[in-house]
Amino acid sequence: MPSITAARGTRDILPAEIPVWHWVEQISKEVFESYGMQEIRTPVFESTELFTRSIGDQTDIVSKEMYSFLDRKNRSLTLRPEGTAGIVRAFLQSGMALSGDDLFKVWYSGPMFRYERPQAGRYRQFHQMGAEILGSPSPLLDADVIAMGVNLFKKMGISDLKIKINSVGCEVCRPVIREQIKTFLGANLPHLCEDCRTRFERNPLRILDCKKTGCQQYFSGLPQMTSYLCEPCQDHHHSLLEFLTAMQIDYIQDSRLVRGLDYYNRTVFELISNQLGAQDTLLGGGRYDRLVEYFGGKAVPAIGFAFGVERAVLILESLKKDIQTSKALTLQLILLGESAKLTGIALAQKLRQLGLRVEINFNSDNLKTLFKKANREKIPYVLLLGEQELESKSIMLKKMESGVQEQIPLTQIETYLSNLIPLRS
Ligand code: HAM
Repeated sequence: MPSITAARGTRDILPAEIPVWHWVEQISKEVFESYGMQEIRTPVFESTELFTRSIGDQTDIVSKEMYSFLDRKNRSLTLRPEGTAGIVRAFLQSGMALSGDDLFKVWYSGPMFRYERPQAGRYRQFHQMGAEILGSPSPLLDADVIAMGVNLFKKMGISDLKIKINSVGCEVCRPVIREQIKTFLGANLPHLCEDCRTRFERNPLRILDCKKTGCQQYFSGLPQMTSYLCEPCQDHHHSLLEFLTAMQIDYIQDSRLVRGLDYYNRTVFELISNQLGAQDTLLGGGRYDRLVEYFGGKAVPAIGFAFGVERAVLILESLKKDIQTSKALTLQLILLGESAKLTGIALAQKLRQLGLRVEINFNSDNLKTLFKKANREKIPYVLLLGEQELESKSIMLKKMESGVQEQIPLTQIETYLSNLIPLRS
């Protein structure tokens, strides 16, 4: 073990794991693009205020989990704990105006940072891929976005997911919902944890997000949040459920689903996997129609989601799918002796420029070891250049599968290989 190791809650993604990551990234990109979405990249750190104002100061993320620091000019900055706030800021900052059926449709991928207690599927640096769509209040969009989440994982081969849906209402009905929660929990307040007691006055909906079993036992029997929604929120919710049914997407209406961020209104949803143990939420999202206004823009309704890439990878690994995304080498070039190195390195340069994937021997000139290595790495062709070959101005080519060997004149080797091996495949 080295004396300096990766910081607690962070991990290396070693080469053996990379094919699964590429697979998740590649499929997600394809699915996002099939919905007409474009990629966006925002900074990894932002001003702290961006997150406190949007995510909410009563949330665990803002009150306990942010990596915040002062820069040399005493500005408070924070490593982003999520992507939505930065994207809304970028939208506003770009000065883009939406009209008619214009939508701002973006997808993103990158590291996020939360000071959480690390465990399987929960890290302090983790990666999210997500989608944000600004510009429509329609429940048809809610259904389309939820379906996009489902499609992502179907395409990856993950189908055993539960979809939880709720509506957290709007500024009209939220006060009624808050009062209902307070009335229901009031008698048991002394039994709830300190966080829940603080939230009781300031943001009672947050109480439902408490994961402590001691608190959760008091939540059962809680009145259905959706029965206290105002009429427009009820209509929105019913339409969404109808659209999902039309798409044959099964869902669970979960009255306790409030999500860990305060910017949501109306629709909230999560995709849950039973392959993930305690950290079973693979994807989470919802509508945030007021967020653009909170940041000083004109009202722009919006919805989005993000999923944890590490969690998707954990599920794919548990499914033991054989995923190969990186391309193997096509040629092992064995150079024996100093003059061969001079001619060989120049040849390798030309072959790589042609698009061939070529490996050279750096340390060993033991033929047996080098051929064994080519076999082990399933490299289909070996080129050998030694004293003899140089004298006859040729190079030896061995086709590993058949064992056939040929001497090819050095002047013809590029053309020969270009015909033999499909380039850039
Ligand atoms: P979130 O539910 O906080 O939502 O995170 C989304 C997903 O990120 C989770 O479902 C989980 O898979 C993954 N995740 C969160 N924290 C960790 C962690 N510590 N370690 C590993 N994975 C984690 C959001 O972040 C919202 N911005 C989603 C959204 C987009 N809502 C609207 N648009």
